Amino acid sequence: MEEVSLKEVPGIGDVTARKLMELGITDAKGLLLYSPIQLAEMLNTAVERAEKIILNAYNLLKERGLIEDDFVTADYLLEKISMRKYITTGSKNLDNLLRGGVATGAVTEFYGEFGSGKTQLCHSLAVNVQLSEDEGGLAKNAIYIDTEKTFSPSRIVDIANARGLDPRDTLHRIIVARAYNTTHLLLLSHSLPRKIKENNVGLVAIDSAIAPFRAEYIGRGKLSERQQLLNRFMHELLRIAEIYDVAVVITNQVQEQPDIMFGDPTKPVGGHVVAHAVTYRIYLRKSKKNLRIAMIVDSPEHPPGEAVFAITRAGIVDPEGI
Ligand SMILES: Nc1ncnc2c1ncn2[C@@H]1O[C@H](COP(=O)(O)OP(=O)(O)OP(=O)(O)O)[C@@H](O)[C@H]1O
Ligand SMILES: [Mg+2]
Repeated sequence: MEEVSLKEVPGIGDVTARKLMELGITDAKGLLLYSPIQLAEMLNTAVERAEKIILNAYNLLKERGLIEDDFVTADYLLEKISMRKYITTGSKNLDNLLRGGVATGAVTEFYGEFGSGKTQLCHSLAVNVQLSEDEGGLAKNAIYIDTEKTFSPSRIVDIANARGLDPRDTLHRIIVARAYNTTHLLLLSHSLPRKIKENNVGLVAIDSAIAPFRAEYIGRGKLSERQQLLNRFMHELLRIAEIYDVAVVITNQVQEQPDIMFGDPTKPVGGHVVAHAVTYRIYLRKSKKNLRIAMIVDSPEHPPGEAVFAITRAGIVDPEGI
C-alpha cells in the first residue's frame, strides 16, 4: 500500500508528527479516520487547525490518486462491490446467505442471544482468514479484540487442525487484545490502523463490541453520552474497514429487559447508532442441538433469507445431511 508520510501534509511539523505517531496515526490516510473535533482533542489544539490538517491530508491523497474521487459513476460502485473479497465462515449455507462469506471493506454485525454462536463464529473466521484465496480465505492474519474473556486458544487449535493448518502457526497469526473497558476499547481502536499495516491483517473481530458500552453507561442519564461514544467508535470501525480494506466483524447481544433501550428481545443493543454504522447485520438464533439459524436483517443488497449452520468442534460447518 502506497503511503504519504505525515510530514508531507502541510500544517504538520516535527512535533505534531511525533504526537500523531504516539497516538497511532502513522500516515496521512490515518488522519481521515477522525473528525476535526476528535483530532483537536487528541492534539490539544484548535478545531480550525485540526480541520485544516485533515483537509490538507485529504487533498494531498487525492492529488496522488490514493483516495477516490467523491463523485463516481454508479457502475464504478457496482464494480467496487464486486471487488470485495470474502472470508468463508466454514458453512456453505451461511456463505451463500452472505453472498460469499464475510466481506472486506465492510462492517458485519452478528447479534443474537447467549449461545447463539457469535463467539464461535469469530474463532472460525480468525482461522479461515488465514486460508489461501482458493480455500476461501485471504491468506492474511487476524486481530481479535476480546471484551468478554471468551477468546480460547484451544478452540483455535481444534479449528486449525480440522482445516489441516499447523496449529502453532495459526495461533501465531492471530493477534489478541483484551479490552478492559470502553476507554481501553477506544484506545485499542485507535491503534488498529498501525497494527493492520504492520501485520498483514485481513480480519478484525471484536467480541463483543457493544457489551462494554452497555455495562458502563447504565440508565437514562447516561444514555446520550453512551450513544455519542458508541457512534464515534462505530464510525471509526467503518472507516477502518473501508480505508484499509479489512473485514470488520463485531458481535452484539439482544435486548432483554423492557426499558428505553432494551425493548424487543429480538432487537440488537445500541439502537440507531449501531444500525446506521454497520454494513451488514445478521441475526443468529438457536435451533435444535448444535444447529443455528442466521438471518440477514435490513440489507439493501441481499434478498431476505435464512441459513442453517452447525457449531462443532471443527468450528462453524454445514449441518450434516442437508
Ligand atoms: N468445542 C466445541 N465443540 C462443539 N460445540 C462447541 C464447542 N465449544 C463451544 N461450543 C458450542 O458453542 C455454543 C456457544 O456459542 P458461543 O459461545 O459462540 O455463543 P455466543 O453467541 O458467543 O454467546 P454469548 O452471548 O454468551 O457470548 C454452545 O452451544 C457450545 O456448546
Ligand atoms: Mg460470546
